[in-house]
Amino acid sequence: MALKVVILAAGKGTRMRSHLPKVLQPLAQKPLLQHVIDTAQSLHCDEIITVIGHGAEQVKSRITGQNLLFTLQEEQLGTGHAVMQANAHYSDSDTVLILYGDVPLTAPSTLKKLLELIDAQHPLALLTVTLENPSGYGRIVRDSTHAVQAIVEQKDANAEVLAIKEVNTGIMAVKGAQLKKWLSTLDNRNAQSEYYLTDIIAMAVSDGFSIQTTQPDGEIEVLGVNDKMQLQSLERQYQYQSAKLLMQQGATVVDAQRLDVRGTVTVEPDVTLDVNVVLEGTVCLGKNVTVGAHCILKNVQIAENTHIHPFSHLEDCIVGQDCSIGPYARLRPGTELANEARIGNFVEIKKSKIGVGSKVSHLSYIGDTVMGRDVNIGAGTITCNYDGVNKYQTIIGDGVFIGSDTQLVAPVEIDSGASIGAGSTITKDVPANELTLSRSKQVTIKGWQKPTK
Ligand code: UD1
Ligand code: CA
Repeated sequence: MALKVVILAAGKGTRMRSHLPKVLQPLAQKPLLQHVIDTAQSLHCDEIITVIGHGAEQVKSRITGQNLLFTLQEEQLGTGHAVMQANAHYSDSDTVLILYGDVPLTAPSTLKKLLELIDAQHPLALLTVTLENPSGYGRIVRDSTHAVQAIVEQKDANAEVLAIKEVNTGIMAVKGAQLKKWLSTLDNRNAQSEYYLTDIIAMAVSDGFSIQTTQPDGEIEVLGVNDKMQLQSLERQYQYQSAKLLMQQGATVVDAQRLDVRGTVTVEPDVTLDVNVVLEGTVCLGKNVTVGAHCILKNVQIAENTHIHPFSHLEDCIVGQDCSIGPYARLRPGTELANEARIGNFVEIKKSKIGVGSKVSHLSYIGDTVMGRDVNIGAGTITCNYDGVNKYQTIIGDGVFIGSDTQLVAPVEIDSGASIGAGSTITKDVPANELTLSRSKQVTIKGWQKPTK
């Protein structure tokens, strides 16, 4: 007895007007179908069978998961026909959970609730939802005892059925033996000439079973995506939900409508996220960290009391506590800031370690550098780490003072306590505790005349 999840994802999604198959359209930067796969995975199912059709190769190459297999539905003849394509992959004793590649936000807890309704006497459970505007959905038809009788599709419904507000989400759990039996007797005699999965409900009723139903906590869990407008609407609802989760962890979110989470974010209490912050990948923010307006943070770990000022961009880096970054700073992959480091405006740092209390305050490029503690880097200093072919390292010892507008031509080492005069081009190693400079002497040309026209 195993749990098998079948995900229907063969449809074209014509209304998306896109070259990308619908189920690969991104929600919070992750394909719709990947959301569904990740949810299925969280249920510890034994196998996920994804029914693909349009853009099959693209879908296969972009979607990942454990115990995941794909089966092809060459022609889209209806949802019942789609589930039939998975027949070889479940046995009589399995429970089959049917999900949809374009319904990305169903909560695992809702699906668990649905699965709990299934047993030998109850081989079919349905997830339904009550909508103010049920237009377009299959209606749940119940008898006078409130028992489910059938699902009637919008296009096949009369006025009385159209007035029903409880609708089919499409999501259901069915015992393998019955599913196989019912699917084998489906026909396509309906308004759309399709093999409707929903017809198995009436079959279950006529076999004498009572249909179990449950509803999700929120409508967002069962919303599908058909066009770009619905995609953006779901994105905003998802983002609002993400912001709420962060606030529940103790974050101060200045405007929940202007925060975007595109990955997994953990925050300690009293983190503040200002407007238009984008958090991507895996982001961990320690307590009292503030992130200023318009910052983008991707795969970063920031320790407590660090302040990131507006318009900064950080990717794949680790930042210690009590640091100050930005405004307008760019920390590229492989950057590590020790505690109390200060990175100012228009500074780019790549694959470098910055020691405790060191400062790079204005207009610098620091790449492939290992910097000690209490270093001061003057404005406009550049590490020349690239000769056009290879990259080289710069090593800067503790307590070094580098004057403004210095070029450090790597590979080069500045020993601890050294000072470098402003405007120097340093091509050779610099000894400790001395002043080194490389400029020509200042001269004044007496009596020089300005050119005239
Ligand atoms: C279906 C349900 C309807 C429910 C609604 C919820 C049926 C007959 N109707 O209607 O009761 O209210 O979902 O959104 O099941 N698909 C395939 N292969 C196919 C056909 C569909 O993979 O041959 C996939 C589509 O890509 C889509 C999903 O199944 O992701 C639903 O199909 P769709 O045709 O949109 O069904 P609806 O008419 O919306
Ligand atoms: Ca649909």
